[in-house]
Amino acid sequence: MSPFAARRARLQERMLPGAVAILATAPEAPRNGDSDYPYRHDSYFYYLTGFTEPDSVVVLVAASVDKPAQAILFCRQKNVEREIWDGFRHGPDGARAAFGFDAAFPIEDLDGEMTRLLANAPAAYYALGHSAALDLQMKTWLQNVRRQARTGVTAPAVAHDLLAMLDEMRLFKDASEQAVMRRAGEISARAHLRAMRASRPGMFEYEIEAELLHEFRRSGAQYPAYTPIVAAGANACVLHYNANNAQSRDGDLILIDAGCEFDSYAADITRTYPVNGRFSAPQKLLYELVLAAQSAALAAVVPGRPYSDIHDSATRVLAQGMLDTGLLDKAVYGTAENAIAERAHQQFYMHGTGHWLGLDVHDAGAYRDVHAEGKPSRALQPGMVLTVEPGIYVRPAAGVPEQFWHIGIRIEDDVLVTPGGYEILSEGAPRTVADIEEAMRQR
Ligand code: GLY
Ligand code: MN
Ligand code: MN
Repeated sequence: MSPFAARRARLQERMLPGAVAILATAPEAPRNGDSDYPYRHDSYFYYLTGFTEPDSVVVLVAASVDKPAQAILFCRQKNVEREIWDGFRHGPDGARAAFGFDAAFPIEDLDGEMTRLLANAPAAYYALGHSAALDLQMKTWLQNVRRQARTGVTAPAVAHDLLAMLDEMRLFKDASEQAVMRRAGEISARAHLRAMRASRPGMFEYEIEAELLHEFRRSGAQYPAYTPIVAAGANACVLHYNANNAQSRDGDLILIDAGCEFDSYAADITRTYPVNGRFSAPQKLLYELVLAAQSAALAAVVPGRPYSDIHDSATRVLAQGMLDTGLLDKAVYGTAENAIAERAHQQFYMHGTGHWLGLDVHDAGAYRDVHAEGKPSRALQPGMVLTVEPGIYVRPAAGVPEQFWHIGIRIEDDVLVTPGGYEILSEGAPRTVADIEEAMRQR
């Protein structure tokens, strides 16, 4: 059984007997004129189907006393004319066989089939608020079913949020997902190494970006997983900088936050390095601090420990370092605990230390145990994949030592939680001062 079919079966087992789940893929998105953005399927839809064509809907019927479970795909029909212009389409028969569905229909049949499938179904599992188009269609189907009430037909009496169920499933990566994510990590790490080695003072940020994109694509990755950040010098202090059009200068640090999407799974890596290959003393001081914060955060990646320990560990090291380097005034704050309590560290570290990673860069899955009293941070478990990405960003301000002004540093790696701790999926990108300087000496 394919991993996609296995996920469908797992979902069906969690549904009420005879209930119906429905999920549409993403629409095509116009860019300008008659050009579309490159098509990207919906992540939830892909998770259950592996099917990447637009205009597709999956319907799952859970087993009941008198009927087995059914997985049904609706998709575009074969069309010789359109296939000459736009490329191959599986068509319902081809897709049913290739993707392991019990039945498949042309997408044009969706209205009629859904009216039939929802009739007498006890419950509907639906992606609430996910697609305005599907919301409208659902309304029509339910009206059609309710119209048959006088003949004894009933409409689903309950609606469940399908996305909440899928979020929880997606949080735990199965073996096939782990393999794809390992590959996304390898390719992205290699791209960072390539960018480092290509960098010379005076290069424009977009020239360095081109090195990343080259490595992604030549390795078979379909897209960048998000718009790459290539930030020279002070631009690194703009957290979501992506203009990528400035010229680097000798002495600048370059912060690159970039990862590829490989077979629908994202990598998300940040490296920060001196464009001339040698860290200055203040750059090195802050870099080592961020690296120590990352090490402390990684040490908290242990099954059973709360997710929030990762951020708390990084923050403690960073706050202590801010006091030790004079970024924060020891006379004012005294201890790291006190600085954190007063949120003083947020002047230089204003984001979280990571997020779930998977089909989406900021992936699905709850960060808190919503069923427990007080909604505590959830415990880490094997199969979760997350980023660990502390940073420090120093904007000029009164009382801030001038030697640190405009330095922005982040170190971000992708981590799979394992039974014994963790596996770093982005290991191939140099991370220590010595490794970065060594890699750049080889230019
Ligand atoms: N690249 C997005 C992030 O680091 O969260
Ligand atoms: Mn990230
Ligand atoms: Mn990132």
